[in-house]
Amino acid sequence: MTGDFVRAENLSVNLGGKTVLSGVNLGIKHGEFVTLIGPNGSGKTTLVKCLLGFIKPSAGSAVINTRRTGYIPQSYTEKGGFPATAGELIKSAGISAGMKSSGVIISREKIMAELKISSVLNKCFSDLSGGEKQKTILAMALIKKPEVLILDEPNLNLDPHAYAKFLKLADSVHKKHKITVIFVTHMVSAMPVSSARVVVLKKGGIYYDGKAAPLFRKKNVMEEIYG
Ligand SMILES: Nc1ncnc2c1ncn2[C@@H]1O[C@H](COP(=O)(O)OP(=O)(O)O)[C@@H](O)[C@H]1O
Ligand SMILES: [Mg+2]
Repeated sequence: MTGDFVRAENLSVNLGGKTVLSGVNLGIKHGEFVTLIGPNGSGKTTLVKCLLGFIKPSAGSAVINTRRTGYIPQSYTEKGGFPATAGELIKSAGISAGMKSSGVIISREKIMAELKISSVLNKCFSDLSGGEKQKTILAMALIKKPEVLILDEPNLNLDPHAYAKFLKLADSVHKKHKITVIFVTHMVSAMPVSSARVVVLKKGGIYYDGKAAPLFRKKNVMEEIYG
């Protein structure tokens, strides 16, 4: 674990007088694709927010060994208030990461083509479909050339078809950009097939950490994860 690119050591978090995470140990190597799965309220979002430094641990530590992180939060749609076009949002994400205006335009064109959203360049973010919004947010993360990409429940805003396409996209982004991906979901059925490693969080602790196949060979796995 020491020396891992992303790590939580003996991590505990109390929020509002409640223990949300307790004694979590997790190490992720550069370039891994990890799915973090667990029922609602098991502490997944709290764990990724700790890793990103948004929430302070009550005990232990949580770090990502780079400042180049891309984070797609669970609840961006609830925040609303995006009066800008998709193109403007992606551009300003690049500018805020310190890129020059000319460089941003070239990168934006490439990324929008890669994500197949070139056609929404001049469309207002609020008018986009769920899938287009999700990809615009992904493009805002990718333009900063992140070393780690954290996707928190990207299934929540998408219909099954759009989500299936988004899973493929997450996989190709991982391979093409050689970035570490932490993919968070509460649904076993929403798990990317490409994920080599699954971490199951239950009641604020790690219940399973390993390959997907042995986990799903277990008897009563659903009851064990969600029960
Ligand atoms: N700011 C907070 N204050 C109090 N409790 C919180 C706060 N944030 C999260 N929690 C609680 O912590 C638990 C885990 O939340 P969360 O990390 O969002 O779970 P998940 O992402 O797995 O659904 C939940 O019971 C939630 O109500
Ligand atoms: Mg969550």
